[in-house]
Amino acid sequence: MNGMLSPSLMCADVLNLQSELTVLDKMGVEYIHLDFMDNRFVSNITLDTGLIKATKSVLTQMKRDIHIMAYEPQQYFDRMDIGEGDIVSVHYEACEKLSDVIADIRQRGASPFLAISPDTPAEVLCDFFDVIDGCLVMTVYPGFAGRPIVPGSFEKLARVKSLIKESGKNILMEVDGHVSWDLCRKMRDCGADIFVAGSSSLYQKGLDIEDAVARMRELVK
Ligand code: DX5
Ligand code: ZN
Repeated sequence: MNGMLSPSLMCADVLNLQSELTVLDKMGVEYIHLDFMDNRFVSNITLDTGLIKATKSVLTQMKRDIHIMAYEPQQYFDRMDIGEGDIVSVHYEACEKLSDVIADIRQRGASPFLAISPDTPAEVLCDFFDVIDGCLVMTVYPGFAGRPIVPGSFEKLARVKSLIKESGKNILMEVDGHVSWDLCRKMRDCGADIFVAGSSSLYQKGLDIEDAVARMRELVK
């Protein structure tokens, strides 16, 4: 299976989000990455729940890849209209009752992914391999676009992939943070399946999005 793209909407032209979504949707891009932040788990606020909900009315085939950087994320699920086809990533570090949160996502027909920040060891994922469909490995400290990759990220990606292989489970690995032109191939070689493409690749200034998508597809084949 080829690598799949998940362009990060918070890095797009925020004054023209509907056209940004439509262009990607028409190109057959698999996912749109929608970052939600509560200004507590991370010190920033980006896309709000109303906008995340509204994206459903624009998308015809692209799926939502919702990354919730917030404590007790369940409180936002209704407002985001979480449902069939969505990936919903919640942070290991932000949930008191993680199994309940994961079950709630599943019950809504969505796909639960478990996100881990750079300082959280890969091994914490193992306890949840029976109930998640994927994991989101943060290769930058979450909260802002444009951050540098954290040293040791490639080893982390490779470790997560080997734990998944050992489990025998069909779990996807998504990589989020500084997925740049020169590093995305190495991330693919470490086993990444879904690539969150933001300011260090697709949304670099002055690029034609169609050319950029074609270039990234080639790199993560
Ligand atoms: C950061 C977000 C990422 C962000 C990545 O906390 O989770 O999705 O958009 O942006 P770049 O590619 O600039 O690291
Ligand atoms: Zn993200």
